[in-house]
Amino acid sequence: MKLLIDDANIAAIKNICEFYPIDGVTTNPTILSKAGRPPYEVLEEIRAFIGKNAELHVQAVSRDAEGMAAEGRCIVKRLGKNTFVKIPSVPEGFKAMKILSGEGINVTATAVYTPMQAFLAAKSGARYAAPYVNRIDNLGYDGIQVARDIHDIFGKNNMQCQVLAASFKNSQQVLELCKYGVGAATVSPDVIEAFANSPVIDAAVQAFIQDFETLTGPGRTLVD
Ligand code: E4P
Repeated sequence: MKLLIDDANIAAIKNICEFYPIDGVTTNPTILSKAGRPPYEVLEEIRAFIGKNAELHVQAVSRDAEGMAAEGRCIVKRLGKNTFVKIPSVPEGFKAMKILSGEGINVTATAVYTPMQAFLAAKSGARYAAPYVNRIDNLGYDGIQVARDIHDIFGKNNMQCQVLAASFKNSQQVLELCKYGVGAATVSPDVIEAFANSPVIDAAVQAFIQDFETLTGPGRTLVD
């Protein structure tokens, strides 16, 4: 499962990338609005930091297919080939996905709440479909199960599309999809940090260091 950062805060992205193995960054208009700066200024800064080979996902905001397609071309032109254009999984969006995928532009189908949206997106040429796990849970449905169903639909129909699970509020939700082997998950920095954050873990590591120092002296390591 690929792991992406769902944020546009460059300081937070740099901090997470320093410590954790990350495959890319996803953004959406709400995330960009929180940055409070011109969108391309932020996106170009992210691209420069993560490098040309990492995935960057950027959402189109037009209401019609032609507008979405025009945005998609512009996004890829400015941010590089490994940039995925996020297109909402609505009728105009499926039309835009067909246009953009036909031009060889990578598409991520977003705002996915149902398996059949993902099915249509995959048939329209999307490379990823992004079910919103936590938002689906908040509607009273099972977001994890929706993501699993989409993964199975892609596999059983030999579709060249993968789940990019999104909208997580805790590490348990990510774990469930990691166990299922979905293609990717995009996760906020605070939830990524919670994957390996516990006083129990810190105490275990601290005890090993103390035992070693008891043997060899304070501050000594296997280099000394
Ligand atoms: C990803 O495609 C979505 O834009 C994002 O993960 C939504 O997350 P949220 O439900 O926390 O806003």
